[in-house]
Amino acid sequence: MEESRDVSRRDVVMMAGAATAAAAINKFAAAPGVQTVHAANDVVNYAVIGTGGRGSYLIRHFNSLDGGRCIAVCDIDDEALKNGVQTSKDKPQGYKDYREVLARQDIDAVVVSVPLYMHFPVTRDALEAGKHVFCEKSLVFTPEEVHALRAMVQARPKQVLQTGLQRRYSRFYRTAKQMVDKGMIGEITHIRAQWHRKNLGKTWRPPSWRVYRKYSGGLTAELASHQIDIASWMFGAEPEFVVGVGGIDTYKDGRDTYDNIQLIYSYPRGRKLMYSSISTNNHLSLFHGERNEFGEIIMGTGGTIHITVGSDNEPALGMWFYEPQPEEPKAAEAAKEKPAIAGATLASTGKGRRGWPILFDEDMVTGKESFLAKEMKFARMWLYQKGVMVPEEINPVDTQLLDFFDCVRTGKHPVADLEIGLADSTSVILSNLAMDEGRRVYTKEIETLGRGATTPESKPEPGTGVRRT
Ligand SMILES: NC(=O)c1ccc[n+]([C@@H]2O[C@H](COP(=O)([O-])OP(=O)(O)OC[C@H]3O[C@@H](n4cnc5c(N)ncnc54)[C@H](O)[C@@H]3O)[C@@H](O)[C@H]2O)c1
Repeated sequence: MEESRDVSRRDVVMMAGAATAAAAINKFAAAPGVQTVHAANDVVNYAVIGTGGRGSYLIRHFNSLDGGRCIAVCDIDDEALKNGVQTSKDKPQGYKDYREVLARQDIDAVVVSVPLYMHFPVTRDALEAGKHVFCEKSLVFTPEEVHALRAMVQARPKQVLQTGLQRRYSRFYRTAKQMVDKGMIGEITHIRAQWHRKNLGKTWRPPSWRVYRKYSGGLTAELASHQIDIASWMFGAEPEFVVGVGGIDTYKDGRDTYDNIQLIYSYPRGRKLMYSSISTNNHLSLFHGERNEFGEIIMGTGGTIHITVGSDNEPALGMWFYEPQPEEPKAAEAAKEKPAIAGATLASTGKGRRGWPILFDEDMVTGKESFLAKEMKFARMWLYQKGVMVPEEINPVDTQLLDFFDCVRTGKHPVADLEIGLADSTSVILSNLAMDEGRRVYTKEIETLGRGATTPESKPEPGTGVRRT
């Protein structure tokens, strides 16, 4: 018989007590400010360079945010440029050459949303022109660029460099990270992540830059980069090495980036990220199959978290599952009448366990609220657990953009900073290398790659970041 998903009010009370321990501090909080920047006053004047899919999406989000004014947009493509100008509520001036944008003294900051192979040249020129930069993920493309960007940003401590890894700004992911750090799911040993996008061939097909190695890191850079970053964040470490297999097995249309990738990352103490991106099926075996494409499972010795990010149309979702300890069956047996936490009694039956929604501070019962407020919280938690309602956050894309304005204005250090972006790019570059060369590629190899220490035969092909054998 299938496990009943019903939950009593009493269960909710038990769960609330446990969850409060995790979520005591889950408000979005960035690192404290450390420097004073010569920059915008109240309103940040910014330009968007690259107004294709992502650039125009960001402009639409900017339109509803206070704190910035879009005074220029730039794209080499007429249609994209026209669209960028029309999309912004600020009536920006349009440019085809980004260097003209950078020459404007009244621009404080630029948003770089060009194809991956152009991230570094535009970011480099923007930093040299004294601008603050928000650059989309994956931050850079080649090993040379990893080293060059680090040197540039370190030499310019008053300029902001933020990477477009929006999950870092999600309250759900930040709460999950706190749960991990507080030991609520024990020691995390494995993470499974997937981004399965069906019909990839319709949206990413020649002549799109995304399907050519000369311009793109393929699925690894475009999709996996977000989730490798999540694993490294949750593990609190960078991978030691990566192995993987990639293939062009479905879309034989002239592309030279893989249409499916399977990667395993080994982190210190034997912890692993198992990663999959395929293009023939988009099923996601989380959240009762109600969502598709992408999500992560964080597995610890004491529990599991299922999590996925939200979009403009769907909320983020986060569930956690308690994992009874081996010595617990007796206790669980004894607790049959009085379970200490929902799910504990099920351990002795071998059945699956109930998942609990990840909750925010405002949903927690503190005991200090009025009777009515408390009852409403219980009701909301009950509805969350039943999947009738979900806790919601503002789209982390908005949060990251607002935080970028804040960093520019105050000199605060960004959450998704240079090193987070470079570590992520390094993993992307080395993952592609591991699949191309069919070997373990160690993260420390980045230290010699791109420093002129490679042999002519193993030198990266210009602009690809990938060595050919
Ligand atoms: N953070 C996220 O979730 C997310 C989502 C989608 C895309 N992205 C990233 O955003 C970047 C752009 O992706 P996209 O989907 O918008 O691609 P796109 O092809 O739709 O748009 C890129 C635009 O850049 C323009 N461009 C190219 N070279 C240029 C140059 N020298 N100067 C000015 N404009 C130039 C192109 O004409 C095009 O309009 C990629 O790095 C991608 O990985 C991030």
